[in-house]
Amino acid sequence: MSSRRDFIKVAAFATTSMVVGGKSEASLIEEPPIQKASKPLKILILGGTGFIGPHQVRYALARGHKVTLFNRGKTNPKLFPDVEQLTGNRNGDLESLKGKEWDVVIDNPATLPRWVRDTAQLLKNSAKHYVFISTISVYSDVSKPDMDETAAVATIDDPTVEKITGETYGALKALAEKEAEKAFPGKALIIRPGLIVGPGDLTDRFSYWPVRIEKGGEILSPGTPDDPVQFIDARDLSEWVIRMVEQSEVGVYNATGPKSPLSIAEMLYGIKAVTTSDAKFTWVDSDFLSSQKVFPWVHMPVWVPPKGDSAGFSRISVKRAVAKGLTYRPLADTAKATLDWYKTRPSEQQAKLAAGISPERETEVLAAWHSRKKGQTSGA
Ligand SMILES: NC(=O)c1ccc[n+]([C@@H]2O[C@H](COP(=O)([O-])OP(=O)(O)OC[C@H]3O[C@@H](n4cnc5c(N)ncnc54)[C@H](OP(=O)(O)O)[C@@H]3O)[C@@H](O)[C@H]2O)c1
Repeated sequence: MSSRRDFIKVAAFATTSMVVGGKSEASLIEEPPIQKASKPLKILILGGTGFIGPHQVRYALARGHKVTLFNRGKTNPKLFPDVEQLTGNRNGDLESLKGKEWDVVIDNPATLPRWVRDTAQLLKNSAKHYVFISTISVYSDVSKPDMDETAAVATIDDPTVEKITGETYGALKALAEKEAEKAFPGKALIIRPGLIVGPGDLTDRFSYWPVRIEKGGEILSPGTPDDPVQFIDARDLSEWVIRMVEQSEVGVYNATGPKSPLSIAEMLYGIKAVTTSDAKFTWVDSDFLSSQKVFPWVHMPVWVPPKGDSAGFSRISVKRAVAKGLTYRPLADTAKATLDWYKTRPSEQQAKLAAGISPERETEVLAAWHSRKKGQTSGA
């Protein structure tokens, strides 16, 4: 996508296709039917009922694979009544995994090295391939753009720590990767996603923007319009993971997107293009935002200022994954599907998103920004 204008054109085209086709409400693009894989696999998904798992399950079934889920039976237990379910707990109850065989294990929810060690060691002789969903948070230094999979990962003084915090998450995931590789030497696939977005995301870190833009009016918009952003639609990630499994791929892959650089302005205008909103974006520089205690990622989700320690945070290389067939839906599809899904959520969740600045604070910060600019003008 070479320019914002091109992007909006594609978004507008996508909207038109939906109206003309009139078949799918959930997706803007009428997707081609999913082809069966050449060989059906027996796939064990550890987890499977949270955010990315359900997208994997649906795609794997459509490709003709046999899926088994292993979880505690607590999260969305009725989601897949026709899929084999094994009940247990990564904290000490793996009994139901014993005495069975699979072509591949996909380990979604593990953040602790112990979880991966226990399942991977147990399954090393009963599965041919182990996929671990890691994270780009494993990288210790994101100050340089174009970081690839060879960049250094974070370490931790005490590897037995089990409290997941902003400080421990990346290093523990890096250790968990090692456990998968130790039990499945030459047969482990490590996927490092960036921010995962789209239908089913309860963190609201992307959803904030479509929801806010649809409401319209003046919108506090972070940094400069050219600041880069990166994220991946959960459906693109999940479908690609299943295709990687079909090819028995191994190794380490960053998995974020899109394929070509995307700016925050392209993202916000691209989202606006799937709404009828009168949204108007007011760009407020990062120093002013920080003086107002408006924090990147938390209050202004997806965005991190591309300078200093975070200069490379939204410019991670995805070349290796793209070369192995990672593809991306248009932003218009992700934005529309996210909005449609948001409208199906309980009213209390719709009323209070888990991320993003509150409406009251947004109004205050915009007022402060405008009065600051007026002060500068009158002083000049
Ligand atoms: N969200 C992001 O932006 C982002 C970015 C980068 C990487 N990641 C990584 O992506 C992965 C996302 O996973 P997901 O949550 O979407 O996976 P998922 O497979 O959709 O859902 C999590 C599953 O884990 C099961 N589970 C939780 N605790 C368990 C336990 N003690 N024993 C057995 N099963 C248990 C849950 O079911 P029960 O509750 O019924 O047990 C649920 O099925 C994580 O590894 C995360 O670190 C996320």
